[in-house]
Formats: sequence, C-alpha cells, structure tokens
Amino acid sequence: MRQLPEGLSQEGLQFSGATEEDFDDIMGISQGIDGGLDYLPTRYMDWLQETNRTVIVARKQGKLIAMESVFVIDDGETMLVQALRVAPQERGKGVVGVLQRFCSDLVKSKFPDVKVTRLTRDLLLPKDFQKYRLITKQGILLVRFRAEELKLRLSDLGLGDIQSSLSTSFKPPPVRLDNTAVRQLYLTSDRMHGVLPNATIIQDSQPFKLLPSNMAILLKKDIDWMVDDVANPTVTSLCTFPYRVPIGDDWYSLNINMFGTELDPIRQQFLCHLQRHTATLKGHVMCQVFLDPPLWKPMVEFCRNTLNVELVKEYTQQCVVESDVISGGGRRGVGDVGARKE
Ligand SMILES: CC(C)(COP(=O)(O)OP(=O)(O)OC[C@H]1O[C@@H](n2cnc3c(N)ncnc32)[C@H](O)[C@@H]1OP(=O)(O)O)[C@@H](O)C(=O)NCCC(=O)NCCS
Repeated sequence: MRQLPEGLSQEGLQFSGATEEDFDDIMGISQGIDGGLDYLPTRYMDWLQETNRTVIVARKQGKLIAMESVFVIDDGETMLVQALRVAPQERGKGVVGVLQRFCSDLVKSKFPDVKVTRLTRDLLLPKDFQKYRLITKQGILLVRFRAEELKLRLSDLGLGDIQSSLSTSFKPPPVRLDNTAVRQLYLTSDRMHGVLPNATIIQDSQPFKLLPSNMAILLKKDIDWMVDDVANPTVTSLCTFPYRVPIGDDWYSLNINMFGTELDPIRQQFLCHLQRHTATLKGHVMCQVFLDPPLWKPMVEFCRNTLNVELVKEYTQQCVVESDVISGGGRRGVGDVGARKE
C-alpha cells in the first residue's frame, strides 16, 4: 500500500494512494458499474503512472470500500473527478462526501492553482444546482452490434450510397484530422467555438478547455478526430478507439463524442467512425454516442432503420458540472457518515 504522509487519514476511514495491488479489491467493489461499461479496468494501471493524476482508495477496518481519481487539467486550474465509487454495502451513508473532501484538500495542497472541480453526473436534482454550475448536457445513445455483422451491413448498403442518400444537398465527405490539423483547427482559430459547448472538448466523460496543455494530453490518446468542413466547421467528432469492457469476453466499448446540431453531417461522421472501427474488430460492441440531446431521437431511428443495430437503453444523459474549490473547506468525519445511516 502506498502510504500518504502521516495525518492524511480520518477517524474510521484510512486513505492511501492507490497501487497495482489494489486492483482486484477495486474491481470487487465495481460490479455492474455503468451497466458493465466500466472503463476503469483498462485505464487503471496507466492512471497510476500519470503525473497529474492522484488516485486514492479509502479503507474501513482494513477493507477497501471506495476510490476516487482526480486528474489535474486546464493548465493546473481544474481538478477532474473520475471513476468515483463506493462499495455497494457502504452506499447511501455519505462516504462519497468524505472521500471527495479528502481528495480535494490533498490535490489542492499539491496543485495550489486549482480553482474548480469538474465532474459528470447523469441525473441532477434541483438541490444539486446549489453546488454545481452546468457546463453542458449531452444525450447518450447506446446501441449494440456484432462488429462483423455491422461491417457486412455497411458494405451491403454501400457507404457512399448511404452518405449521398443522407444529404439533401451535396456535401463532401467528412475530413479526418491529423495532429497538426487538430492543433491548427482547435487552438489557432476560433472556428470551433461555435461548435463546441462552452468552448469545451469532451472526450468520453472528460471536459477539456481549448488549451495547448490539454491538447498535448488528448493527442497522446488513440482518438479519431473528424470534422465536416475544415474551413467552416459545423460538426466535429472524436472517436475513442474500442476498448474491452467487463460485460463478457470479446465485448468492446466504442465511444463517440459528437458536437454540432446538424443531423446530416452527424450521421455521416458516425458512419465513417463505424466503418473505420469495424474494419478489423471482431466481437460485440457497445457503442456510446454522446450528442446534442435533440439529435438523440433521429439518430435512434437511423440506427434502427438503416443500420439495423439494437438500441440498448432509452434516453440517458451526461451532465458536465463544475464547482469552486474552497481551500481548507473542512472535512466531514466518519461520525457524520455513520449519522446518515439512521
Ligand atoms: C455514486 C456513489 C459514488 C455515491 O456514493 P455514496 O457514498 O453512496 O453517496 P451518498 O448517497 O451517501 O451521498 C450522496 C451525495 O453524493 C452526491 N453524489 C451522488 N452521485 C455522485 C457522483 N457521481 N459524483 C459526485 N457526487 C455524487 C449526491 O449529490 C449527494 O450529495 P449531498 O450529500 O450534497 O446531497 C455511489 O452510489 C456509487 O459508487 N455508485 C456506483 C458507481 C457510480 O455510479 N459512480 C459515479 C460515476 S463514476
């Protein structure tokens, strides 16, 4: 166990920096998270090596009961909370509040420029708006298919034919961007400001401001970047390469973040991402598309009627929220955690 400096523990809960040895215990408290689409198993070991990331586990009587990861981005001004989880038997007792306050104080002491915390929530209650500002809301379209079957379907349909049938007016195909083009488009012009929500790139569940330091993080990842028109973009998309998820053997998640409000180019870019990633992939795919909420319904129709893929879930959403970091905000003790049980 990687111990934190003395004093960084609280009555009843012990906190420590996460290690490789904690992996199995963390998976043990993670059953069913995100409907089996938990990305943590594939990212965990890499996260432990990242310099701007702090991964903390909490134990109660020696047993691992919670974890949180905090990634510092936006030139050191934002702490991004990820993979937050509490063991099922400990939920509803306020553990998350104690853990978050602990992590927030620790990260603030290591990164004094941090000003805000950002995270994603699926459901926000009216009371949550007292603590959070909403950055943006994206609808989540979740469909599933076998990669080999969709590949055949796309080739039967003829991608060129589908694309031309989608457009009411002729539009050239979407453009895949290399790293230089990504930097140019996103950093050296303000062309993306009208396309991205709040001038924020969201990749999977991670919101990044348009800054060179963030772009350096993003460009190290396996992502396909696409835009409808480099000179005059109305739609842009990021597709994270498929990664294994714990639903079963040969199950992958393919995540696509789409920005913009125009249906035709959204569908075209979706097809291009699907075509590229079903070319070599074998197995079952859960494809999550994050998009402007009004586009959810027409995209469901397109998925069902044209692609013959199965909708897994009705409408769900992802809200990106932020709150100010308060220095020395104090931490609630475990006494309070227990008190909430009654
Ligand atoms: C979501 C989860 C971490 C909440 O932990 P918990 O200790 O059971 O939380 P409690 O119900 O005791 O506390 C509720 C508080 O946490 C807040 N909360 C709920 N979900 C949250 C989330 N995803 N992120 C941050 N805070 C959250 C609530 O707003 C509430 O705040 P309040 O006390 O200011 O009203 C826990 O239920 C869990 O592990 N769920 C499965 C994994 C998951 O969904 N993780 C979140 C996305 S990665």
